[in-house]
Amino acid sequence: MKEKAREARQEQRVVGFVPTMGALHAGHLALVERAKRECAPVYASIFLNPTQFGPNEDLSKYPRPLEADIEKLTAAGVDGLYLPDAAEIYPKGYSTYVQVEGLSDRLEGKSRPGHFRGVATVVLKLFETVQPRFAYFGRKDAQQVRIIQQMVKDLNLDVDIVVCPIVRETDGLALSSRNTYLGAVERKAATALYRALEAARREIAAGARDSLELQRAMRKVLEGEPQASVNYAEIVDAETFEPVVRVTRRCYALLAVYVGKTRLIDNMLIEPAGEEVVATI
Ligand code: PAJ
Repeated sequence: MKEKAREARQEQRVVGFVPTMGALHAGHLALVERAKRECAPVYASIFLNPTQFGPNEDLSKYPRPLEADIEKLTAAGVDGLYLPDAAEIYPKGYSTYVQVEGLSDRLEGKSRPGHFRGVATVVLKLFETVQPRFAYFGRKDAQQVRIIQQMVKDLNLDVDIVVCPIVRETDGLALSSRNTYLGAVERKAATALYRALEAARREIAAGARDSLELQRAMRKVLEGEPQASVNYAEIVDAETFEPVVRVTRRCYALLAVYVGKTRLIDNMLIEPAGEEVVATI
């Protein structure tokens, strides 16, 4: 991979990169499609990164349909696939980690201690190996992208981060590799996240700007769903991920919700535009 990367750089080709953990769905493939429009060659990686999973998380049961994944990426037209194993990324004696301070401690970071340290570390390693000019990430993991952007800035990395929209099922559920954990009843209940974001969007359209009001609207939907239990439902500043009182600048409505035993996340981007406020689910 390093040799390929060096060649591509020497030939001044625009390398696009899509890092994944596999169990691929249309959300991942949308990143590849976007990369294909903007770059050549396009490389994707599949690496189920152990350091971003907590001790009580789902690393061991995370789906690993490797053959199907390779087929999907090949059909999507990637020019190369990087499939390192854990011993290649973290050989014996491995001891260097990347910690993006502050941003990594809140919300997802608070609920999943060490998660973003694992993410930042592996993404830096993948960037170093693949040497992309552009790297593609989904807005589905809004805090992850923000942390990676911070790392890129702080470490002067020579890569542009491209943030892509959230791909959803027709009933609004954001695509996720973890959706396969949901039983039939839970699958129906899981639309509560989308419905909660929609409720907040309706409030915004009706003129609401107060975070508490928007949070209340989201919680009302989520609490009305017996299968769902809220981990967090917050309105935060899109730069700092600190809570805001009113949506007067770029914000996210962020949700983390257990549906049965499965933890799902989703979000909505809220952007003031003149007198208007535009909410994108
Ligand atoms: P993974 O969960 O496999 O996701 C890979 C990329 O796909 C991420 O950028 C994620 O935001 C994006 N993605 C997932 N679901 C999406 C959806 N419904 N719509 C749009 N994009 C979506 O995120 C990771 O892997 C890992 O943390 C990784 C960055 C690879 C580091 O290990």
